[in-house]
Amino acid sequence: MSASLLSWVKPKRHLLGLDIGKSSIKVVQLASTRKGPVLKYAGLTELPPGDREGRTDQDRDAPLALHDVFKESRLKRQKIAINFSGRSPIVRYLLLPMMPKDELAEAIRWEAKKLIPFPIEDAVLDYLIVGETQERDLKRTEVLLVTAERGAVLSQIESFKRINLPITAMDINPLALFNALKLNYKSDLEENLVFVDIGAGKMDINISKRGVLRFTRNVQLGGDDVTQAIVQGLGIEREEAEQLKRQKGLAAAPAPEGTAGQAKEQDGRLHEIIKTEADRMILETQRSMDYYRAQFREGSVKKVVLMGGASLMPGFQEYFASYFDANVELDDPFAEILCDEKAFGEIRLVAPRFSTAVGLALRDADD
Ligand SMILES: Nc1ncnc2c1ncn2[C@@H]1O[C@H](COP(=O)(O)OP(=O)(O)OP(=O)(O)O)[C@@H](O)[C@H]1O
Ligand SMILES: [Mg+2]
Repeated sequence: MSASLLSWVKPKRHLLGLDIGKSSIKVVQLASTRKGPVLKYAGLTELPPGDREGRTDQDRDAPLALHDVFKESRLKRQKIAINFSGRSPIVRYLLLPMMPKDELAEAIRWEAKKLIPFPIEDAVLDYLIVGETQERDLKRTEVLLVTAERGAVLSQIESFKRINLPITAMDINPLALFNALKLNYKSDLEENLVFVDIGAGKMDINISKRGVLRFTRNVQLGGDDVTQAIVQGLGIEREEAEQLKRQKGLAAAPAPEGTAGQAKEQDGRLHEIIKTEADRMILETQRSMDYYRAQFREGSVKKVVLMGGASLMPGFQEYFASYFDANVELDDPFAEILCDEKAFGEIRLVAPRFSTAVGLALRDADD
């Protein structure tokens, strides 16, 4: 009997989703039941800012913090899916003529060679045949190609081994996010769907259509840049700047006309500073959408989903939405997952920070 038939009687086992971001570690554990996935555990550990500065991507595994995460949560060291935290991997959607399997592998390797800035011998190369298209009598294969530097992948796996964490799967952020989206946005998957993860240090701008990830771009701009701009603009400490950002965000009153009290003046300046950073994020998203539409000869986008901590800034979603014709929503990766509201109330408040971890945790342990 095949595994897919067995899955009717044997519930699917999930991997433990572990998302190591620049600012925080997120862990999600799911269990599958007849009613669908159930949230067993979710945790978020903020990494101290001092640890973050000057860290290279390779240091991002934060082994010490991880050790504590597992100790405190009393999670068993079960099979884990993590996100690749090395220098941005290359993801490309390719349309190739129909050809036999071995020739296709060769053609993909050839395409990869053109894309990567290092020798192909030093790359980990993976691809997925995601579908086929037909234009008049020309049939083509749709392929999603993912490559990353072998050294970066191995060193990340190595550092997990050192602290005894069994890594069974490694995903790149856009694919983990898309995995979570597939559960939540089933009815939007046919159309162009834009999803933007704005974390602490970067934004990942992604576009899918017909259930296939077609475009992804990584921009080094995130919530920490907003905090930094406030520190410099208002001449205050990082901690205070971070607090102002989270409490007031873009909802701080814009600069008033004429004379105003000191507090109001600061609010006005705060508003201007955050707006400047938000404008940069909007511009990058707009650019990516324009590029995608031109490249794929696509029309309108109906929906944009925002994920990641920076999208939690008060007023950000509304401000972002005012620039686009599309519906702009804040992601709730737990929307289709059964959650005990009492136990996970606080987690739900910052749900968009968990999109990646949920996507990783949805992975099937038996795959
Ligand atoms: N309530 C909030 N309001 C505003 N900003 C917030 C809020 N909560 C978190 N942030 C900001 O979001 C960022 C962290 O988000 P997130 O946890 O998604 O990032 P990360 O995964 O650690 O980073 P990255 O994805 O870049 O590696 C930080 O810059 C933080 O200041
Ligand atoms: Mg992140």
